[in-house]
Amino acid sequence: MRPYVIINAAMSADGKISTKEHRQTKISGDQDFARVDRLRADCDAVMVGIGTILADDSSLRLKNPDLIAERTAAGKTEQPMRVVIDSRARMPPDGDMFKKGTGQRVIFVAETAPPDRVAALAEKATVISAGTDKVDLTLVLDKLGEMGVKKLMVEGGATLLWSFTSQKLFDEIRIYVGALIIGGTDAPTFVDGSGFTRAEGFTRLALKNVEKIDDGLLITWHKKEE
Ligand SMILES: NC(=O)c1ccc[n+]([C@@H]2O[C@H](COP(=O)([O-])OP(=O)(O)OC[C@H]3O[C@@H](n4cnc5c(N)ncnc54)[C@H](OP(=O)(O)O)[C@@H]3O)[C@@H](O)[C@H]2O)c1
Repeated sequence: MRPYVIINAAMSADGKISTKEHRQTKISGDQDFARVDRLRADCDAVMVGIGTILADDSSLRLKNPDLIAERTAAGKTEQPMRVVIDSRARMPPDGDMFKKGTGQRVIFVAETAPPDRVAALAEKATVISAGTDKVDLTLVLDKLGEMGVKKLMVEGGATLLWSFTSQKLFDEIRIYVGALIIGGTDAPTFVDGSGFTRAEGFTRLALKNVEKIDDGLLITWHKKEE
């Protein structure tokens, strides 16, 4: 069975998730960081696209020692499985995701990924081929389901979130809207990609909750069933 998919991201009041140089930036505050760590701890796997790794060298790890202890006390691994979507196996083998924290790392690549890069990554992670030229997210979700992932957190970035939302492969979206304007035509928004035309129609959402956290808002949406 496919996992329950929660998309979680932080954006500025103008919808940007990083700067025009694609540099990670602090959008939320301590209370929201704690919420995100809690969500990571509650999930079986966390996922990003390779663009996020190349921009931020994200480790994707759960940081709070109390949450790590809580997971192990419940018989879980210290860290949720860490997953990267990376058609061409561009993941740097010396990236922080490999250096920090324990547990399984999984890289999904396409069948056409260069074999030497796949072999180098296979020394550090479980590398799974899913899709011909580009990673096929439906295959990814099926595979993660087979691997025992029941709840998946997708953290971004903008291109991966376009695929998840346009293909309606999510259950929930949690967006933290921070009290700042970042601006810039070239700054990634919550979702980029090719976008819909009016004729194609849009991905519709159902509002579930709005909560004030720090000096911003956490908005929870569910996928609207059509
Ligand atoms: N504020 C936040 O909450 C937050 C969270 C995460 C990231 N970010 C920001 O987001 C930015 C990165 O976003 P991004 O759009 O450049 O990169 P991204 O969404 O992280 O990764 C996109 C890449 O994933 C690969 N990919 C493989 N299969 C795919 C598929 N089926 N659908 C979509 N992508 C697929 C593609 O590269 P290949 O073709 O080479 O595989 C694609 O270019 C950074 O600036 C980062 O700081 C912000």
